[in-house]
Amino acid sequence: MGEYHVRGGNRLAGALCINGGKNAVLPILAATVLNGGTSVIHNCPMISDTIVSIKMLEAIGCKVTIENSTVTVDSASASSYELPKDLAKEMRSSIIFLGGTLGRFAKAKISHPGGCNLGVRPIDLHKKALKALGTEVIEEHGLITCTAERLIGTTINLDFPSVGATENIMLAASKSEGATVITNAAQEPEIADLAGFLNSMGADVRGAGTREVVITGVSRLHDAEYRVMPDRIVAGTYLVAAAITGGEIELTDIITDHLEPVLSKLEETGCIIRKARASIRLTAPKKLQPIAQMRTLPHPGFPTDMQPQMMALLSLAAGTSVITETVFEARTKHISELMRMGADIILSADGRTSVVKGVNHLEGTSVEAHDLRGGAALILAGLAAEGKTVITNSIHVQRGYEKIEYDLALLGAEISYWE
Ligand code: UD1
Repeated sequence: MGEYHVRGGNRLAGALCINGGKNAVLPILAATVLNGGTSVIHNCPMISDTIVSIKMLEAIGCKVTIENSTVTVDSASASSYELPKDLAKEMRSSIIFLGGTLGRFAKAKISHPGGCNLGVRPIDLHKKALKALGTEVIEEHGLITCTAERLIGTTINLDFPSVGATENIMLAASKSEGATVITNAAQEPEIADLAGFLNSMGADVRGAGTREVVITGVSRLHDAEYRVMPDRIVAGTYLVAAAITGGEIELTDIITDHLEPVLSKLEETGCIIRKARASIRLTAPKKLQPIAQMRTLPHPGFPTDMQPQMMALLSLAAGTSVITETVFEARTKHISELMRMGADIILSADGRTSVVKGVNHLEGTSVEAHDLRGGAALILAGLAAEGKTVITNSIHVQRGYEKIEYDLALLGAEISYWE
């Protein structure tokens, strides 16, 4: 397992362009199964989750080629509806392959993705929705088998606006009979991006990115070419990197609107932000200000995927901040690691609310990444800490950041990656 070595204290400054989004590319790759033809996907981030998705496509018979950040999938030769257990276990979001495979073959088999470091992560909403579309869902010995004689459009109200469940419904319903209406749908920008890709192959998806998505099934889909949207969480992470080091950064190739919930919180900390449609410039304040109340929520609320990074930032603010995690019940593993670096954080008994009392400085030490964004938060803390921080278990960070050490070094950080 690799590790990052960070020597803190450098003020980061410079410009970076942002690659395609992890959470956008994964459902898009899953959707390539649907057309039984060629999909050319540009701006794919070359992160380990993308590679696992590609292996998944190859395992069911797709032909995949990669050239720089363009992935071409020919799903004409796909013949299997069984998604390999070892790959499904590597990536929780493998569950979104259910919808694509079901839409193509009217059958899909995948092992239960199980829990993870963020909590139990049940898949009840996925199963309920696929059943509503006419699928028989059988779960035995950790294996989920979906079979549909016909997929028939219907209205599905999600109890919670789950990103993955919304995507799975969109994938399966694209080739169903009639119209499917998802109410209380997830509104994340990645949902709209998936709809953009599906529509580029001839699907009829409307309203994606709002609370109600309508998918009118079509019988045939065709070849498609698409460019994945920029990664708003990577962008947010780099903004925090500049903020935590008292630095200045310009990000390009982004969609500024996607970052609004993060930008407004960064402004509360005293950061000065200048926005254009596809670029942002952030200048850190002399002293970071605390945030009285910050709650993670489904989009357009503050993204849970930025909670650990903001916690690292607020641990150095001039006062006390309160952060409440409402999306994942156990997104807390980074807290004890930040405390090892000198952060003053108290977690409530229900594990949801953290009281972060700003300290004057953090100290470098050896810490462990337990999950993707928690690992990124520890790197950020290391950038601001006195001395050297070693972040072990880099494998988590590599799931979502394509060479984070390279990008941060470009901005002036002293960071290296050790195999
Ligand atoms: C996606 C993102 C992830 C992000 C999350 C929330 C991808 C690949 N991953 O994950 O980075 O943190 O959205 O923005 O896009 N839930 C249920 N039952 C279900 C499904 C979900 O109870 O059937 C719960 C989950 O346990 C969690 C909450 O709903 O507490 C949100 O989950 P969901 O929106 O589904 O997240 P993912 O799609 O897994």
